[in-house]
Amino acid sequence: MATYLGIESSCDETAAAVVKDGRVLLASRLISQTDLHQQFGGVVPEVAARSHVNAINQLVEEVLQEAKVSPKDLGGIACTQGPGLIGTLLVGLSCAKALAWSWDLPLVTVDHLMAHVCANFINTELEPPFIALLVSGGHTQIIHFENYREGKILGQTLDDAAGEAYDKVARLLGLGYPGGPIVDRMAKTGNPLSFKFPEGQVDGLDFSFSGLKTAVLRTVQKLTPPLPQADLAAAFQDAVVRVLVKKTIAAQEKTNAKCIVLAGGVAANSELRSRMKEQSPVPVYFPSPSLCTDNAAMVAAAAHFCGQPAAFNIGVYSRQR
Ligand code: KG4
Ligand code: ZN
Repeated sequence: MATYLGIESSCDETAAAVVKDGRVLLASRLISQTDLHQQFGGVVPEVAARSHVNAINQLVEEVLQEAKVSPKDLGGIACTQGPGLIGTLLVGLSCAKALAWSWDLPLVTVDHLMAHVCANFINTELEPPFIALLVSGGHTQIIHFENYREGKILGQTLDDAAGEAYDKVARLLGLGYPGGPIVDRMAKTGNPLSFKFPEGQVDGLDFSFSGLKTAVLRTVQKLTPPLPQADLAAAFQDAVVRVLVKKTIAAQEKTNAKCIVLAGGVAANSELRSRMKEQSPVPVYFPSPSLCTDNAAMVAAAAHFCGQPAAFNIGVYSRQR
């Protein structure tokens, strides 16, 4: 049982949070760099790292104050070790090392993907075993968790991640960055039946989204402007959500897991949340939208359930391991 200060800096959100016993959220703050990167249509790593440096100390101070917690109340300082951008991860890790050293507290590192899954423990009584659908900007995986510490990957994307497909299609449709939330909003006013886009034809529990992205591109190329953005968004989203729901439920049936959890930025998608709930034969968990996208509360929660006590010479990693 412990209260952790969590720090997240794997990509373009600088975040700090305090969570007690992995379940009770005491404070969570975040500074998003979306505006900063919008002009480039994607995250520029060096720009992101510099922005983390400017924001992190202030956020740590704010969450400790808001949580009414002083260093002596903490069980450790947690940060994301990877996967993510090396330069941005190093900002969070260096900050966590410095705080742990100066306050004489354990340094605990967490995996970003595990942290996304652990967001589901906040304010719930969720316990393994469960099937997790992890859908973010960089990953799309179905994972079977029989314990808190590690899961078995049952299926994953062979090409683009679901979030990446959202971002690329948003760009094709002339919408902003990041595309997921905009396509989600726009799809609500469109007709999903106005275009027929294919689900990726991949066996088993794996996914493929690059064919779908190409199908949207070909359709857009044949249309004369102005594009029916809402209909295209709705038809694209329908194809993505259909396959995500179908394969996640197939994984639940195969493993007999007692619930399904959604994790990662795309888990904020309104259509995915509602259709998974409608169609799943078992209870479905998903974090509040702000805990689906990158945040530090999930890092502090993950520290409790599956954090690794770390030495001060530890480094970061860019790819899943
Ligand atoms: O988990 P996340 O914040 O960062 C990564 O670890 O990648 O996920 C970001 C991804 C982006 O691709 C973004 O477009 C997508 O999540 N996303 C959404 C929604 N909100 C964020 N995709 C679909 N619908 C949403 N509402
Ligand atoms: Zn993430």
